[in-house]
Amino acid sequence: MSTTTVDLTDPDLWARPDVGEIVGELRAQAPVQRTETALDGPVWSVLTYELGSQVLMDSATYSSTGGSLLGSGLGQTPAGAGKMMALSDGPRHRELRAPVLPYFSPKGVRGSADRISELAASVVADAVERGEVDLVDVLATVPLVVMCDLLGIPGDDRDLVVSVCDEAFLAQTPEARRAGHQKLIPYLFEKAMQRRMEPSDDLISTLATHRIKGRLLPIEDVVLNLDNIVVGGVQTVRHTAAMSVWTLLNRPEAWRQLADGEVDLGAATDELLRFTSVGLHVLRTATRQVELGGQVIEAGDKVAVWTWSADHDPAMFDRPGELLLDRSPNRHLALGVGAHYCVGAPLAKAELGAIYTALTDQVAGLEPVGDPVFNRSIINFGFDRLPVRLRAR
Ligand code: HEM
Repeated sequence: MSTTTVDLTDPDLWARPDVGEIVGELRAQAPVQRTETALDGPVWSVLTYELGSQVLMDSATYSSTGGSLLGSGLGQTPAGAGKMMALSDGPRHRELRAPVLPYFSPKGVRGSADRISELAASVVADAVERGEVDLVDVLATVPLVVMCDLLGIPGDDRDLVVSVCDEAFLAQTPEARRAGHQKLIPYLFEKAMQRRMEPSDDLISTLATHRIKGRLLPIEDVVLNLDNIVVGGVQTVRHTAAMSVWTLLNRPEAWRQLADGEVDLGAATDELLRFTSVGLHVLRTATRQVELGGQVIEAGDKVAVWTWSADHDPAMFDRPGELLLDRSPNRHLALGVGAHYCVGAPLAKAELGAIYTALTDQVAGLEPVGDPVFNRSIINFGFDRLPVRLRAR
């Protein structure tokens, strides 16, 4: 059995400049290896693209109900198991995913493209005027406001929701972030109850009035799924955006290509998603004994697909350590694959594309002001703070 001594669950590993070499060596040693994790005990780490996608495509063998992310704790089942889209399998998963799909379909997202572009442009214009800003804070506004639009948060509540989300996602300590999150749940609960009585044409109303085999979805499940969407839709986008800008900041030629329109924005957005792969891993639980990459995995074992590693696998991507903005094809796993493929993918790409366009349209150059502060998380790896000085174009 191959057991790794490198702690893949240590966020400091992912902030190291030589992370590519370390993970590359591990992947070359064995595509599947046993990792001892501090919180979840032994976990099978899947490091190659081929086996990672094999796991994610086979939800009958690799279930999501035991949790989709590391960190729940040894032997613990997450509260939303079987109730949340991300934590359910098979027909139950489809029942929960179907009602929200129209909000995130490419057609649904195209309808809001102008609004998203205007929002990104005004957020960047404001930052350029201020000159020196924390880019993480600035860029988080785009997914936050888009989320308020989607949920149908009324004008009067927006400042409150944005500030609670800011606290839940941007506060400086994990305790403060948890406290912020705990304020979000009762708010969503109150709104879900209200919209169940007086529905409107927004995502809260859709879930609050959703019936499965004639029965309304329990209100707790409504809130859990709304929370899943808010967390999934805000954190990931802000971390990807900030990490991507950092990546471009260190590659002036790529920034120039993007600014001069030499590369297709969609292809560039996908390559930045692949290169940053901020959702470093996705977790599954084996439902039966299965052989994977020469290892025997027992029913009940945890299996972590290291998305970042898969997305830098040279067997799948030519020169994976290079940022090639016109890379094609680019079937990365940054947004997952299979039944749980990110439901918000078209929206995420629209938001990220709008952010890159606004930045390259309005900003001639960015300089870091001091060192960035990493957020120390393997769930959404990124920056807590990225202070920069912006020069207007
Ligand atoms: C760059 C931004 C994003 C990244 C990197 C990302 C990443 C992912 C990944 C890797 C998965 C698959 C998880 C698994 O297989 O267990 C996923 C699922 C999901 N994402 Fe995203 N996501 C992003 C943006 C969004 C947005 C904008 C939303 C909603 C507004 C969203 C909502 C969700 C939800 C609800 C799921 C669960 C889908 C299911 O289980 O069927 N995500 N995301």
